Amino acid sequence: RCSVSTGPCFWGYRFWTHSQASPHRWMRQALPTAAAVADLFPPPPDLASKAHVTSQDEYERMYRQSIEDPDAFWGDQASSYHWETPWSTPIVDYNFDVRKGPVQITWFPGARTNLCYNAVDRHVLAGDGDKVAFLWEGNDPGVSSAMTYRQVQEQVCRLANWMKSVGVGKGDDVTIYMPMTPELPIAMLACARIGAVHSVVFAGFSAASLSSRMLDSSAKLVVTSSGVRRGPKVLNLKQIVDEAIALCAAKGHDVGTVLVEDHQTALNRSDVPFTPSRDVWWHDALAPQPAECPVLWLDSEEPSFKLYTSGSTGTPKAVQHSIGGYMVGSGATFKYVFDYRPGDVYWCTADCGWITGHSYVTYGPMFNGATQVLFEGVPTYPDAGRMWEIVDKYNVSLFYTAPTAIRALMAKGDEQVKKYSRQSLRLLGTVGEPINPEAWRWYHEVIGDSRCPIVDTYWQTETGAHVLAPLPGATALKPGSATFPFFGVQPVVLDDNGNELEGPATGVLAMKAPWPSIMRTVSGNQQRFEETYFSLFKGYYFSGDGCRRDEDGYMWITGRVDDVINNSGHRIGTAEVESALITHPAVAEAAVVPVPHDIKGQGIYAFVTLMQEHAYPPEEALKKELIATVRSTIGPIATPDNIHWAPGLPKTRSGKIMRRILRKIASLEESQLGDVSTLADPSVVETLLSTRGV
Ligand code: WT7
Repeated sequence: RCSVSTGPCFWGYRFWTHSQASPHRWMRQALPTAAAVADLFPPPPDLASKAHVTSQDEYERMYRQSIEDPDAFWGDQASSYHWETPWSTPIVDYNFDVRKGPVQITWFPGARTNLCYNAVDRHVLAGDGDKVAFLWEGNDPGVSSAMTYRQVQEQVCRLANWMKSVGVGKGDDVTIYMPMTPELPIAMLACARIGAVHSVVFAGFSAASLSSRMLDSSAKLVVTSSGVRRGPKVLNLKQIVDEAIALCAAKGHDVGTVLVEDHQTALNRSDVPFTPSRDVWWHDALAPQPAECPVLWLDSEEPSFKLYTSGSTGTPKAVQHSIGGYMVGSGATFKYVFDYRPGDVYWCTADCGWITGHSYVTYGPMFNGATQVLFEGVPTYPDAGRMWEIVDKYNVSLFYTAPTAIRALMAKGDEQVKKYSRQSLRLLGTVGEPINPEAWRWYHEVIGDSRCPIVDTYWQTETGAHVLAPLPGATALKPGSATFPFFGVQPVVLDDNGNELEGPATGVLAMKAPWPSIMRTVSGNQQRFEETYFSLFKGYYFSGDGCRRDEDGYMWITGRVDDVINNSGHRIGTAEVESALITHPAVAEAAVVPVPHDIKGQGIYAFVTLMQEHAYPPEEALKKELIATVRSTIGPIATPDNIHWAPGLPKTRSGKIMRRILRKIASLEESQLGDVSTLADPSVVETLLSTRGV
């Protein structure tokens, strides 16, 4: 039940008090004061009166209908879109219980539609072709451009025609490795138009990571750019693509064609490696192609795209999304959670290399015909006022970013913010990790001048769209809580044995039925899909997150309960970093754990045991080498924040590494080590404690 009392509430901050003895500033400050815990932020009345959902009652009524009568509720939501063939009812069919057979999810059975048509053509046909789709802001101030929906349509059609001309069609995999320029969403939409399955790899991953993703999906086409500018740095993306293609070739996979966007403000053409027999410049490819291209109508359940994400074990997995359900889910969450209205200027700072850039840059906003800012750069370049400069420049009204960015800017002080007006803002959003109440308040008071509601959106690559989030006209906010389920989402709090807990409770977060945009499988690996998400708690989708429901029914995400680190909102598997470290010849064994971090939320902390011939501590240069190894194996986003030399690791007698103990050592919580007597060699703990910080 979702009921909200309007009185003060005296709960909710416990999970931030990670440790009383925490050395980490924001965690310590997050200890509640009497004033802080009483905070409840009701919707601003002027916003509420005009919102899509104007009260908690209305939310509850709609929520109930979404669960009890999905045919009516989702049928109504879906009617905003063009369907070439309508769906049959029931609108959803599924099995979540592995004991009853394979896990399967079907939304809008029998329907045919097209994501690109609904994101682009529909608006042009409705007379909105001259509306701006992208306001592109380059890394360097003063470099910018704008593109209308009609111009997007033309580019998408030319590209789709060219892709067909090189033999790319329905079901083919296309890897996209590009910076945040309009060509990136255009490439995604061109794939969607002809039924090709895009796999966007964040243009910050290493050649090795890129190649393993290209291999896994047997990509026959790669779309890239010459380079990207991020802050003061320039990355030669094409060179990285060439290395990745060579790595693929060494494993017997031939990538036939590479399309290269000439991103001249980043790199000169002459500095870009180019193989004429295989590589094609974007402009040369598109110029001769017709500006019209028929869309291919696809079944609602055919794959739209895959996106690789990290888990607790093994290599990253390809999360596969659908067409109909993904469209309705990303479109509806964009409309309701951001309370989008025509006239808004929306800006999501996420890169299209992550799910946020899929659902809340390319798809959700475009399904709604929104005008949005695309930003190539970073929040602190040339200075920490850049974001607010951009907000003023384009009169941004809806702004969506990550807690790590908020904390980084908060640390730079208020002056850089106050220089800018920010009067255009009416709503702020956050995503990626739990937002600590201090950052929430700063975002609210300093960025939003206490005027804008903050929508804290909890979701995952796997969920496709927001699953827990406030509705800004309806929900009274509590700083740090993602509040209530979005329509159609049925969250439960489970105990370790898989029992559903009622009322206020702490446990893990699971969902008992599918919402439209949930992932459909792990591409090419249904078994891994079922093992990862449906085997631990039978009959439920398991999120991997811990969660607490308070007395008012508000949900508080407490972070991952598996071996996944949330580093600056990026999901890093500890196993991946360990495997990367072990590739270095000096390393015998590595164990990686999360550690609280002021700005990044969680830091990456690596315990490293060296090969016998090495003494402790080794030369400082080895640390640099190991860091370089991780950066080149995975990418700079996985750079360890700490390397702790470990002559021995705490292991059970059967040889299992006790990560629980390592987490405590890393977090300087030696008083909470618990029982170490079962360790094969308890003295290793002493050694590690005495070398912490050395
Ligand atoms: C994990 C998913 C989906 C967008 C970006 C991350 C954490 C995400 C929140 C939030 C608390 C959050 C969870 C989740 N997370 N949003 N609002 N509050 N935690 O996508 O890489 O698939 O990571 O991010 O731990 O499981 P992702």
